[in-house]
Amino acid sequence: MRISLTDLQKMKVAGDRIAMLTAYDFPSARIADRAGVPLLLVGDSLGMVVLGHDTTLPVTLDDMIRHAAAVVRGSDTALVVCDLPFLTYASEADAVAAVRRVMQETGAQAVKLEGGQPVLSIVRRLTELGVPVMGHLGFTPQSQNQLGVKVQARDAAGARQLLKDAQALEAAGAFAVVLELVPAALAAAVSQRLTIPTIGIGAGAGCDGQVQVWHDLLGLFEGKSPRHAKRFAEIGKIIETAVTAYVAEVRSGAFPTDSHSARMDPADLARALDPEDALGAETVPT
Ligand code: KIV
Repeated sequence: MRISLTDLQKMKVAGDRIAMLTAYDFPSARIADRAGVPLLLVGDSLGMVVLGHDTTLPVTLDDMIRHAAAVVRGSDTALVVCDLPFLTYASEADAVAAVRRVMQETGAQAVKLEGGQPVLSIVRRLTELGVPVMGHLGFTPQSQNQLGVKVQARDAAGARQLLKDAQALEAAGAFAVVLELVPAALAAAVSQRLTIPTIGIGAGAGCDGQVQVWHDLLGLFEGKSPRHAKRFAEIGKIIETAVTAYVAEVRSGAFPTDSHSARMDPADLARALDPEDALGAETVPT
């Protein structure tokens, strides 16, 4: 049985912190699900970490659907949230059409979309139609050309607006809100004022939950991680060591060995290679 919206709400009330993680494919979803991650996000960050783009903007609905369907297949317990990609929810009609595809073609249980005031009517409509919607405020990567990649809502007016947007999303029916790159004290104050869970990334420990990107958490990229990310392992290095060893063994002939290979009766091979042997061709119907 998957985690439900009611379970998440109970976690908020009980003060049980929620660990959300991105996943983009079947094996990552299997591992995260087995590790007890209650909320899996098929983030449009896949544009960068999986598809090699510089931003989330080139990600298409087809990209999201292919990856979200794999994550749903790979998980049994987590609630799977699928990001709606850039400009697929510019109008209510667009949003309904995009969400219809996401829900029907992937089996994801919820969608996430970015923004405050401009998306409220869409959140309300989707919620009325029975679709669980997660909001996303603060730094919203789909608007990075306007915002720049930096902490948001640092001044009083920006902070007031963010609080108003969070409360408006809750009133419109959102079941949770991601707060990205927001001052920790503001995120904590917003979390205390909402009845729905807040999920922070670069927003401090006062949120009801945290979300991290799979590749950041596992050290799948070389170089410096973003400040808000913690590398819990260096899997990229482990993979590189393994692949280097593989290349060396293929070159030296150490791999494959007999134990990796299939056998056949040498007599059958000898017959196969003997051009004089008709191999029962006379019995093959013409
Ligand atoms: O796309 C994504 O991975 C996200 C998280 C960073 C919240 O939106």
